[in-house]
Amino acid sequence: MQINPSHQAPVSAAPIVVSVQGESPARAREAAKQLALEYGNYRDAVGLILVVGETSAWLELEGVKVAVRFDSAAMQHRRKGGHNEILGRAVGLKADRKPLIWDATGGLGRDAFVLADLGCEVTLCERVPVLAWLLDQAVQAAAVSGADQVREAAERMSVLAGDSKTLRAPAGTVIYLDPMFPERKKAAAVKKEAVMLQRLADQTDDSESLWQWAWNQPVERIVVKRPLRAPILGRIRPAHTLRGKSVRFDVFTRRLEHSL
Ligand SMILES: C[S@@+](CC[C@H](N)C(=O)[O-])C[C@H]1O[C@@H](n2cnc3c(N)ncnc32)[C@H](O)[C@@H]1O
Repeated sequence: MQINPSHQAPVSAAPIVVSVQGESPARAREAAKQLALEYGNYRDAVGLILVVGETSAWLELEGVKVAVRFDSAAMQHRRKGGHNEILGRAVGLKADRKPLIWDATGGLGRDAFVLADLGCEVTLCERVPVLAWLLDQAVQAAAVSGADQVREAAERMSVLAGDSKTLRAPAGTVIYLDPMFPERKKAAAVKKEAVMLQRLADQTDDSESLWQWAWNQPVERIVVKRPLRAPILGRIRPAHTLRGKSVRFDVFTRRLEHSL
């Protein structure tokens, strides 16, 4: 994956890159160079840090860690959840039809991994460079996992760094949008994780312009994940909505007579 420093979005809290204590700093230094971020010492670093080891990497703020790991127990648990069934139905997945997904808001890749695990080819685009880097590292790690299911899903995932609105989604894909990390009112650690991610992704809320970008692409289906009671994105009503316990998926469909 190429990370162009000119794509460096105005991140409000650019992390300092540090190495895992006791491990070779080579990979951490390389990450700092690639992301055009400052390299520092674990002990001296305050605030948000990107901790990079020989085989692991995570973001850390005040003792709270966020990693992207597709073979984690949490992801294994999630793949069995009912949420996946709704997500699959939202993108139009059928036994004989595995749509190509253009995930324009990659985040931590959780939804993308679920879709890849369900058999879809997924391209993830993420505008925060450090998140795009973590996603790419996680896909590379999953691609050599000992678990067949994780490896096979990873082989269906690819990561792009940059603002989705500057790219053109290929004709025939399903665009997936999950624009903002919502406020979490749960346990303190979960809240801290959300605060960290919001700080990183804390830029202009471009949800509406993302929807408009998606509508201008040569695609017949756009799926938008929203908190249950959030207003609809975009200027038209979705063709239908699938509701889960805390989120809903608004599904916009249309027939394209000729390419846009
Ligand atoms: C709520 S998170 C997505 C979570 C993801 N669905 C998951 O399962 O982990 C939203 C992400 O979209 C990214 N984002 C927002 N606007 C974007 C844009 N225009 N292009 C690329 N990424 C964008 C944010 O940086 C953030 O990481």
